[in-house]
Amino acid sequence: MSIKLLTTGLITSVLMIQPAIANDVLDEREQRMKTLGKEVKTMASMVKGRSDFDADQFVSGAWNMSDAMEGMLDLFPAGSHGGDSAAKAKIWDNWEDFVAKYQAAVEATDNLADAADEGDETTIKKAFGKVGKSCSSCHRQYRIKRD
Ligand code: HEC
Repeated sequence: MSIKLLTTGLITSVLMIQPAIANDVLDEREQRMKTLGKEVKTMASMVKGRSDFDADQFVSGAWNMSDAMEGMLDLFPAGSHGGDSAAKAKIWDNWEDFVAKYQAAVEATDNLADAADEGDETTIKKAFGKVGKSCSSCHRQYRIKRD
């Protein structure tokens, strides 16, 4: 907790004196989103039957996603949009909603980790579906479509 607060404070204060750090924040959050994307892709392929269903992979995947999401909100400092970023400016006009969507994704991922631990294929697939929805519900509103 205190380390997290310290890090947040540090990122915020460095941002104020040295705008270049914003690129690090941007890189870090894009990197983490890519991790989420990679795990979801692997899982989707199993859910769709394109690769063998392996509950263990859902366990490690869900944990990887949890790690990637940890503290992610700190990587969205106010006004960090524009340039290479696909983040919409309205994130910071609707911060509470953005936070709620983030929390929904964290919760869905936790549920998936639990389901994966139990190992029941049907439950895992359902939990995975909810994770996917939690990603797109945020992207639909707050991410600029590039394709
Ligand atoms: C709370 C909102 C939110 C949630 C939840 C969320 N994302 Fe994102 N995602 C974003 C935003 C905003 C961007 C654009 C970031 C940028 O470019 O600065 C993004 C970008 C991405 C990218 C592109 C990264 C790149 O730059 O190449 C991928 C892939 C991605 N998200 C996957 C996911 C997956 C998978 C999930 C669900 C497990 C997820 N995201 C959940 C808001 C969210």
